Amino acid sequence: MLSSLFPSAFFFLCFFACSPLSLFLSDASAGVTHSLPTLSFEQGYTQLFGDGNLMLLRDGKRVHISLDERTGAGFASQDLYLHGFFSASIKLPSDYAAGVVVAFYMSNGDVYAKTHDELDFEFLGNIRGREWRVQTNVYGNGSTAVGREERYDLWFDPTEDFHQYSIIWNHERIIFSIDNIPIREIVRTGAIGGCFPSKPMTLYATIWDGSTWATSGGRYKVNYKYAPYVAEFEDLIIGGCAVNPMDHSSDCEKPDTAISDSLTMSLEQQALMDRFRRRHMTYYYCYDRDRYPIPPPECNADQIEARLFYGRDGVKLGDHRGRRRRGQNKHSRVTQADAAF
Ligand SMILES: *[C@@H]1O[C@H](CO)[C@@H](O)[C@H](O)[C@H]1NC(C)=O
Repeated sequence: MLSSLFPSAFFFLCFFACSPLSLFLSDASAGVTHSLPTLSFEQGYTQLFGDGNLMLLRDGKRVHISLDERTGAGFASQDLYLHGFFSASIKLPSDYAAGVVVAFYMSNGDVYAKTHDELDFEFLGNIRGREWRVQTNVYGNGSTAVGREERYDLWFDPTEDFHQYSIIWNHERIIFSIDNIPIREIVRTGAIGGCFPSKPMTLYATIWDGSTWATSGGRYKVNYKYAPYVAEFEDLIIGGCAVNPMDHSSDCEKPDTAISDSLTMSLEQQALMDRFRRRHMTYYYCYDRDRYPIPPPECNADQIEARLFYGRDGVKLGDHRGRRRRGQNKHSRVTQADAAF
């Protein structure tokens, strides 16, 4: 079953890597990702927790997970994957959602307790429906002492409609994308070294109460008056090969080779990513001088940009949102027009 996914995954990734056209700009490109088969829930996933707070709709093509006073909910892929394309279309709970965390991520913490790898999309609820934040993070080989968080605001309301969140991962590169716009790239360099995820991981989707930290550092708690909070998932895509977590063996014909070569971004994709990061990145660990007086080794951050636009705490100036009072803040927020991608 899973091996039959592989030719189309290969096609996508080769297109991604090789096409001189911008994958992210052309409408035709949407057809490429859409041509990847989606697995129904029974085919590819299993419920982790939450009893009745996980609901299957449309023959298992859509999954609702919800948070109420009793519990959150979550599901996971049945298999572990070493590299591939992982994606879901997600619609977040609307209205008041402070403290609510929706996570779409990969991890192998259950297999490798001390040396786990992890790749995260985390959605951090906020006091008003339009202010959901997205955070990405990466851990490799148990590097939990160093958080490599980045946070972004979005150029759309993620509670109004489904948007596609994707992770592409091969042996040398990881790319996070939203609606085919690359937002973060992690390259395996000598500097990041062993902190680059390199062992098979499971794909997860969860919703939980993150009152202690999610919204403005825990200032706003989950208010169960507004429960249940429902996160909707569909178009669940796994373009990769299931592997045995111990010896990395696989039933696929070519376990990893298709994406092991040259996964690079075109100049256009690079430009889109740069533009996204300039406009929408609201926290960057490489700029967080309070937390990392000596930045982690892979940070070759532009210190001029850091000092012009970001505080010592790595938060974009004018974007502290009451998390911390820094006197009267004269820096203007990004205007609504600017915020459109
Ligand atoms: C991962 O960590 C373990 C234990 O700290 C170490 O022995 C191993 O060499 C590391 N692997 C990589 C790829 O750095």
